[in-house]
Amino acid sequence: MKIHRFEKLWLAFSLLLIVGFIGTVTYGAVGEGIQMVSDDGDEVDPTKLDQHPKFGDPGVEKTGPNEYAVYVVASQFQYTPGSFGNPIRVPTDANVTFYVTTKDVIHGFDVAGTNLNTMAIPGQVAEVTVRFDEPGEYGILCNEYCGSGHHGMEGKLVAVPKSQYEGGDGE
Ligand code: CUA
Repeated sequence: MKIHRFEKLWLAFSLLLIVGFIGTVTYGAVGEGIQMVSDDGDEVDPTKLDQHPKFGDPGVEKTGPNEYAVYVVASQFQYTPGSFGNPIRVPTDANVTFYVTTKDVIHGFDVAGTNLNTMAIPGQVAEVTVRFDEPGEYGILCNEYCGSGHHGMEGKLVAVPKSQYEGGDGE
């Protein structure tokens, strides 16, 4: 069978396009700095968070030489910690794993200007690990409609240069 030269060229070109599309989708899903929210986070009883060993007194804790865990409870209409002058303080250049859940309804936990963005679902613990390269203040926004105070539900996260971070409990 004889295939015309231009036809071959177009065939090759369209194959390349397909490979390119698959490539961008793959990169978008698993590329550097991109991580899906893990679905193997724990389950919790949202009505008994006060008695939970971590969510009962949520905050930041050091879990390894350069690793931190941050427990956050979302509720109508605040983040604990995070809201009302109690920002989440984490160091830069460290692996920081967030565990986010909610007491009442579904909330969002979107750290503006970063790729940290997850839902908080009653009974589920969302787990996301990130690194902050740049020190700075980041706003936390709720991007799931959660009731009359939704529009005002916000918080703050402060990434402190690693050298200045004293470690601790997020106070
Ligand atoms: Cu919480 Cu919207």
